[in-house]
Amino acid sequence: MSPDPGASQPARIGILISGRGSNMVALIDAVRDQRIPKAQVAVVISDQPNAAGLVKAKEQDLETLVIERRGRTRAEHDREVVAALQARHVDLVCLAGYMRILSGEFLDAFPGRVLNIHPSLLPSFPGLDAQQQALEDGAKTAGCTVHLVDETLDGGPIIAQRVVTVHDDDTVESLSARILVEEHKLYPEAVTLVLKKIPGLTADT
Ligand code: GRF
Repeated sequence: MSPDPGASQPARIGILISGRGSNMVALIDAVRDQRIPKAQVAVVISDQPNAAGLVKAKEQDLETLVIERRGRTRAEHDREVVAALQARHVDLVCLAGYMRILSGEFLDAFPGRVLNIHPSLLPSFPGLDAQQQALEDGAKTAGCTVHLVDETLDGGPIIAQRVVTVHDDDTVESLSARILVEEHKLYPEAVTLVLKKIPGLTADT
């Protein structure tokens, strides 16, 4: 957790997923082509054994872990995830479609170092089905947000947002697809910003 000052080691990113993993792939691609400079993806962890994103991460030769909740408390489950991240010296945790609220214990282990992406312009439309909420509310603009994670649902300080215009004939599917395109650009930009602000990480040089 405490990077060696002056070290030339890349920042180590841990990605948590539960499903498709398209934002995970966007981060992996951005690390590979150095749009996120001086970083590496240390591990991808899923709480769902059948998450499609796991296959995509393995195709990229990344280490993957499945850590299921299996009837344990949130704190117990989080403890195992934190231990796995710490064992791999992860500096920054990126939630990418990870369908769990994190415990205080998890957040204390990575203070100011857990990011999430959400398909709305937070604080509007937190929670599930954000794009449907936007359409039902008659919003004229939608978008996506990367924020630091706290113990509330889609809460925490906002790092960056991208705006998407809602069309009159939009369906949940069409709007979600246009927002997703922006998510894939926004998340690497936000990770780069955050890494620059973490003292001692090489991305701040
Ligand atoms: C994305 O819309 C993200 O904003 C939200 O969950 C979805 C995950 O999609 N948190 P993917 O697994 O990254 O494709």
